[in-house]
Amino acid sequence: MFAARTDWLLAPNRLSQQIEERRRQGLAVLDLTESNPTRCGFEAGKEILQAFDDPRSLVYEPDPRGLLRAREAVCGYYAERGTSVNPEQIFLTTSTSEAYSYAFRLLLDPGDKVLLPQPSYPLFDFLAGLNDLEVVSYPLQYDRKWSIDPEIAEKFLGSGAKAIVVVHPNNPTGSYIASSELAFMVACCQQNQAALIADEVFADYAFEPGGRQVSSHAAVADVLTLTLSGLSKISALPQMKLGWLVVNGPPKLLGVALGRLEVIADTYLSVSAPLAHALPKLLERSKAAQPKIMERLRRNLGRVDQAVRSCPNLSRLETEGGWYAILKVPATASDEDWAVDLLANEGVLVHPGHFYDFPEDGYLVISLLTGEEILEEGMARILARVGKTR
Ligand SMILES: Cc1ncc(COP(=O)(O)O)c(C=O)c1O
Repeated sequence: MFAARTDWLLAPNRLSQQIEERRRQGLAVLDLTESNPTRCGFEAGKEILQAFDDPRSLVYEPDPRGLLRAREAVCGYYAERGTSVNPEQIFLTTSTSEAYSYAFRLLLDPGDKVLLPQPSYPLFDFLAGLNDLEVVSYPLQYDRKWSIDPEIAEKFLGSGAKAIVVVHPNNPTGSYIASSELAFMVACCQQNQAALIADEVFADYAFEPGGRQVSSHAAVADVLTLTLSGLSKISALPQMKLGWLVVNGPPKLLGVALGRLEVIADTYLSVSAPLAHALPKLLERSKAAQPKIMERLRRNLGRVDQAVRSCPNLSRLETEGGWYAILKVPATASDEDWAVDLLANEGVLVHPGHFYDFPEDGYLVISLLTGEEILEEGMARILARVGKTR
C-alpha cells in the first residue's frame, strides 16, 4: 500500500532508547546537542508578535514569489552583506527545507543524482529521498582545516549529477566555501551542465568574518545558482517557518528557472500573508539576536578548548563558523558506543559522528548553542570518561 520512498526503519536507535530509559527512571540528561534557539536562552520577547498585527494580512493577495515587500526585505538583507539581488530573483518558502524541495523539483527527475558534502546535515538524505533522488556524497577532507580536495572530489563530481549542493558553512564541520573551492564547483557545474545549490543558513555565524570565505553565493551568475537561507538561523526564529531561495545564473537559464519556479511556487502559495507582512520586522531581529548568539558560540568554543587542553585523548576539530563543534575521541569504540556510554554513565547527550555520515569512527558532535553551565558540566564529564581510555 505504501510508497517505497517511505519505507524507513522507524525503530528507535540505541541512543533514543537510552534517552527514553533515563526519562522513565527520572534521571537527568545534560543535553549537549540542543540547537533550538528558543530553548537555550534566545527566545524572542512577546513584542515580536506585534509584527503580525498588520491589517494588510486581512486581504488575500496571492503572489507565487511571496509578497513584494517581504522580498524587498530579503534584498535588503543581502545588500547589507554587499550582495545585490532584485526581488524578481527571490522565492519565499516555508523553511529552507521546503526551498530544497522547490530546487530539487525544478532541477531533477526521479532517479537523478544530487551531490552532497560528507559529512553534513542529516536531513539531506530525507530531503533527497522524498524527492526520489539518488545521493552521491563528495568527501570533505580534514587536515587542520576542512576543505574540498579537487583531486578526490573530481571523481564524485563527474558522476552525472545535475545538482551540486554546497553548505556555507557546513553543518557540523563549520567550514565555509573558499573562493578557490567555489571556482572548482562552478567549473564542475559547467562541465556537467549541473546547477549549484548553496545552503547559507549559518553564513552569518563566522568566528572570523571576512576570512577566506565567499561572501554569498547569491552573487554567482556563471552557472545556475540557487542560494537558500531563512529565519530559523538568521533571526533565531525556527518557529516562524520562513525561508527563501535566491536564483541567479546566465540570463537565458535564469529566465527559464524563474518561469518554472513560479509555477512550482504558484502550486503551493506556501507563505501566509501574516508571515510575509511580518518578515521585514522578523529579519530586523537578526541585528539584536546575532551578536548574543555569537557571544555564546565563542564562549562555549573557549570552554571546549579549555577542557580538551587538559586531556590528551580528546581534541576539537577546527571550525570557521556555525553552531557546532566536533570532538575527536579515541576510536577504541564506535562513535555510537561512545555516545551511548556517555549517556548511560555520565548522563551527557552528544551526537555520534555517524548521524552526519562521518566516514570513520572517533567523532562526536555537540552544539555550541547549549546553555553555558550545561556545556561546562557536560565537558567536565566527557573529560572524566574519555580520560579513562587507554
Ligand atoms: C545546513 C542546514 N540547512 C538547512 C537547515 C534547515 O533550516 P530550516 O529550519 O529553515 O528548514 C538546517 C537546520 O539545522 C541546517 O543545518
